[in-house]
Amino acid sequence: MFSDLDALAPDALLGLTKLFAEDKRAKKIDLGVGVFRDKENRTPILRAVKTAEERVFGWETSKVYTPPEGASGFGDAVARLLLGEAHPALADGRCAVVQTIGGCGAVRLGGELLKRVGAECVTSGAPTWANHQPLLMAAGLRMKMIPYYDAEKRAVQIDGFMGAVEKLGPEDALLLHGPCHNPSGADLSREQIDAVLDRACAQGFFVFIDAAYHGFAEGLDEDAYLPREAARRLPELLISYSCSKNFGLYRERTGALIAVAKTPDRASAVKSHLLNLARGNYSMPPAHGGEIVAEILTSPELTTLWREELSAMREAIRENRRLLVRTAAEMQMGDALSYIERQNGMFSLLPLSVEQVMAMRERHGIYMAGNGRINLCGVNEGNVAHLCEALRDVAGK
Ligand SMILES: Cc1ncc(COP(=O)(O)O)c(C=O)c1O
Repeated sequence: MFSDLDALAPDALLGLTKLFAEDKRAKKIDLGVGVFRDKENRTPILRAVKTAEERVFGWETSKVYTPPEGASGFGDAVARLLLGEAHPALADGRCAVVQTIGGCGAVRLGGELLKRVGAECVTSGAPTWANHQPLLMAAGLRMKMIPYYDAEKRAVQIDGFMGAVEKLGPEDALLLHGPCHNPSGADLSREQIDAVLDRACAQGFFVFIDAAYHGFAEGLDEDAYLPREAARRLPELLISYSCSKNFGLYRERTGALIAVAKTPDRASAVKSHLLNLARGNYSMPPAHGGEIVAEILTSPELTTLWREELSAMREAIRENRRLLVRTAAEMQMGDALSYIERQNGMFSLLPLSVEQVMAMRERHGIYMAGNGRINLCGVNEGNVAHLCEALRDVAGK
């Protein structure tokens, strides 16, 4: 059975962590994998999460299966957090929410639902997160790439993007990041979001939002502009949500798929299909992460603590962005990196070729994804000069 299987190359990004760990150089820098790290290079468990966990351990009396839609209260709490308490789609009962195995599980389940209703293809701005393609292809969909990030201008190429969006029709599905575009950090402005939603209303294409960094750009409410407006203006919508980054629950594999439908009746039909698709795969999601999130979001005191911790993570990344741009300017590198300060979330793309990315690694012990994506969490006072010197050496930047 297995004799014809050739071994596949390990996942490039996950492989980078191993290569970094094996590198013996003292001045090495890890700008690779997408997790938050503090100044001491740790990814600590949030205090709100620890406290919620203690509470869950206190009241949990059984390990029987969770309901198929996930931990009690989780879906409702996440939908209210993202869409806002008073959102009409919630008040009208037009939302169906299921807990998923992380944001990846939500993208995959959303893709499977689109496939079930006849979609063949999802359109996405290029570049996009490296795992969108494998997840959506595994759901039986193709991906069509349209222009999004202009590597020369280091910003969204809005004319090219809108030009392609204007050609979409009712049979198309458009994948949008909301917020903190991965890998570029370049988000659509509110005006640009409005323009895309105008086109969706006029042309009838479907919108699928991938929200993996809620709270990492400007704040929980500010970052929810796209999903809130989309759920207000569009009759139907899918939103994949990840609790990996904003709750720091990476390994607990906690996420949600939110479907907005035309009527409450359609929302329950959609939910039944989501549960059916999940049943044919993993049956029901793991409980622990969902219970932690529900505990935090239903406790005013833990919600306050969590919001403070999320703000601190957001501000720490902003500070790292400022530090890199300031240091580059102080080292007479001009303003070549100034765009980094205008972007959101953990990631930015450095304008480096694959060969230059390899040279950063081999000559200077600086590890990043092959497309030049860096995680700003890896930048700190102690290593920023080394990073800038390496960039100057490799790219003359
Ligand atoms: C754009 C995007 N979507 C979804 C995910 C999935 O996150 P999770 O780890 O919760 O599966 C990520 C994680 O890196 C991401 O960057």
